[in-house]
Amino acid sequence: EDAKRIVIVQDSSLPAAKKIKIRQSVANRDTRVKVSGWIHRLRSQKGLIFIVLRDGTGFLQCVLTGQLAKTYDALTFTLESSITIFGIVSALPQGKTAPDNHELTTDYFVLEGKAPGEQEAINSRISTDTSPSTLIDLRHLVIRGETASTVLKVRAATLRGFRKAFEQLGLLEVTPPCMVQTQVEGGSTLFEFNYYGEKAYLTQSSQLYLETCLPSLGDVFCIQESFRAEKSHTRRHLSEYTHVEAELGFLDFDELLTHIEELICQTIDNVLADSKTSELLRILNPTFEPPSRPFLRMKYAQAIDYLQKNDIRDPEGKPHEFGDDIAEAAERKMTDDIGRPIFLTHFPAELKAFYMKRSKVDNRVTESADLLMPGVGEVIGASMRISEPEELFRGYAREGIDPSPYYWFTDQRKYGTCEHGGYGLGLERFLAWMCDRYTIRDCCLYPRFTGRCTP
Ligand code: 4AD
Repeated sequence: EDAKRIVIVQDSSLPAAKKIKIRQSVANRDTRVKVSGWIHRLRSQKGLIFIVLRDGTGFLQCVLTGQLAKTYDALTFTLESSITIFGIVSALPQGKTAPDNHELTTDYFVLEGKAPGEQEAINSRISTDTSPSTLIDLRHLVIRGETASTVLKVRAATLRGFRKAFEQLGLLEVTPPCMVQTQVEGGSTLFEFNYYGEKAYLTQSSQLYLETCLPSLGDVFCIQESFRAEKSHTRRHLSEYTHVEAELGFLDFDELLTHIEELICQTIDNVLADSKTSELLRILNPTFEPPSRPFLRMKYAQAIDYLQKNDIRDPEGKPHEFGDDIAEAAERKMTDDIGRPIFLTHFPAELKAFYMKRSKVDNRVTESADLLMPGVGEVIGASMRISEPEELFRGYAREGIDPSPYYWFTDQRKYGTCEHGGYGLGLERFLAWMCDRYTIRDCCLYPRFTGRCTP
């Protein structure tokens, strides 16, 4: 009752407070500031109230003392309430710890939006024994947590890292459409929709459009959502994922693989060059080491030998044979055993898409490569593309594809064809490898997979 009567007004003799974000707090020590955010942690001790304030740009410890700590609002603070705090940030003496080794001594605060306590309190709804499916229902709250938000921050830095690496390597960014009328990676995973009465699909890959850009824009890349109606319910399949794709002209298979190594290593260097991100990545994956070049190159046929020799079997328990699709579990076992990035190359044509160029040395196989990473398996699918119209028509026929809607793709072979190749990287898989996450669902904002299209 007493607490309810304590009303604190802002002391008008204090200097005006400068509005800052938490990331600016180090640069604004020892002057009066105001900072808004959410109560991330809360603790009271001997009449003092300690708040760790979060605003997305960082964390700031704030302390309330004296009458301020006795107000009704302060005594009933709840986690996740939003608040604006006024005061002075000063370095902490040796032996005390807080984010950035400093603390804001509060002289005034405004409670902006009070979050519920008791059963509805955030820490009652989300705890270590909350089921994975409830955690996804509550993803909008889960992302306020330190681990989820750290992954999302590393994700943003990785996108920046890719864009910078592409620029360093001389590729131009384009934005292909998401609504299309052609398939790229097989009809069975197409999401179909009604487009003004016509049948259309959500894009599986922007590859075919990137190929059309080579003659006008040179080597190109895009970072675009791809959609797959996957039947497989695994920790590395999403229905919507961020696809980093590139296409390069006038190069051979070996040059393509070298380019991919450069892109991956340059991107990682760009990510690590930022000290804040590098620190976040260490929190998620303390033993992360950038891979060394060249990556191990292994032909599909050698992988089949490896699987046979090591008695790694297919999902039915049978030994692998040349021509088999190497299933996820076997691929991952092999990759984890080898323990470093592997380019798996020269897959049989029958296992791969209609557009892949065959090897001149062995006509059964294609100039294709998957990049496999420990912990996740395939993160990149790459290949040289068919450059001759006749070979392309045989590819359409083998996959039972009607060539007519692909006239614009075929035209690339007609109007000045060139040797070219490209690749697609699943951003969430790449992040799962880099950030050491068990499932790629943790590497996107709101995962979409079989049976899940919300929130
Ligand atoms: O191997 P994919 O199917 O290759 C293509 O789509 C090519 N057209 C890309 C190109 O050459 N431009 O897919 C490429 C990558 C995979 O290696 C994987 O990392 C990711 O996309 N990917 C998925 N990621 C999450 N969920 C799924 N359902 C995925 N399907 C593929």
